[in-house]
Amino acid sequence: MIPWPILRRVLFCLPAETAHDLTIAGLRAGLGPRARAQVDPVLALRLWGKFFANPLGLAAGFDKDARVMAAVGALGFGFVEVGTLTPRPQPGNPRPRLFRLREDRAVINRLGFNNGGAAAAAERLAAFRVRHAGAIVGVNIGRNKDSADAVADYAEAARVLGPHADYLVVNVSSPNTPGLRDLQGTDALAELVRAVRAARGATASPVLVKIAPDLADGQLSDICALARSGGMDGLIVANTTLARPENLRSAHRNEAGGLSGAPLMAPSTRLLAEAFAELGGRVPLVGVGGVASAADAYAKIRAGASLVQLYSALIYEGPGLPRRVLEGLVQRLRADGFASVTDAVGAG
Ligand SMILES: Cc1cc2nc3c(=O)[nH]c(=O)nc-3n(C[C@H](O)[C@H](O)[C@H](O)COP(=O)(O)O)c2cc1C
Repeated sequence: MIPWPILRRVLFCLPAETAHDLTIAGLRAGLGPRARAQVDPVLALRLWGKFFANPLGLAAGFDKDARVMAAVGALGFGFVEVGTLTPRPQPGNPRPRLFRLREDRAVINRLGFNNGGAAAAAERLAAFRVRHAGAIVGVNIGRNKDSADAVADYAEAARVLGPHADYLVVNVSSPNTPGLRDLQGTDALAELVRAVRAARGATASPVLVKIAPDLADGQLSDICALARSGGMDGLIVANTTLARPENLRSAHRNEAGGLSGAPLMAPSTRLLAEAFAELGGRVPLVGVGGVASAADAYAKIRAGASLVQLYSALIYEGPGLPRRVLEGLVQRLRADGFASVTDAVGAG
């Protein structure tokens, strides 16, 4: 493989989305690592009746169309979340729509659910399942921008994709589809999750909800109350933020869209800890936002995350990042005397 410092220099000469497309093409062509490495059993866990070799996953948005799941696994990730997928294909917003904030180790995107549609992804997922039994793949679903009935869209995506998903994610938190975040309101969310559960098929994949870090006062409590009452099987905290911290330095800081990466670590981890306190450990949480090191991943776990995801840091740290995070996690768990990663969930 080309050494990361050189590859990074080449990729950073290109527009961000071109670099992303090239990365996906490279992974599809088999240019990534081939084999999964052995992982320390201290990192293994069971959730929703499924075995995860480790708790670190690739967050939604990198492999939107379910094209490089095997390659992502070979990087060391214990699971991958594909999507967001909508029932029908759609192009997303006009380019440019993806920006690196290099000085801030951050990204702004306003992609707008560009994807090839649920049916095409379902075919790829079915083929992947045949060859990679045991790999864990979550499927993140959303609505088409031009659809008149949001609930029907999520239900349709769940119907098509549910049979291929280890878990489904109801994404009501992307800032780039007008009106989407309104679905985080209690009544709308309850109806939506009910519809997805009814549509997901006989496999009855767990249904998670992915929330925004920019919630109104009381909104997290309402969502957690719904989760506690059995409405959902997990929460993903959190999506990108519309906030723009004052200390951002990059020229692109005022681009419209969702901000991710390092500036999201502190606020999303605070929200995660609040959700953990609200839920009393009864509903599993997935912590995502700004993870760029083992210390960050461990902080999410100690704040209450059973699983951790990352995306933006890969752009800056490269394909060796997942393995470094996992090695550092093992060291930290052992140093603190935990026999299993599950014992550390919420310990902080
Ligand atoms: C380019 C890009 C595209 C994304 N697309 C999606 C998406 O389609 N669906 C979704 O739920 N989250 C999406 N996300 C959000 C990530 O899954 C994650 O929640 C967020 O980026 C915070 O994690 P990070 O700081 O590790 O990137 C996207 C993020 C980025 C950077």
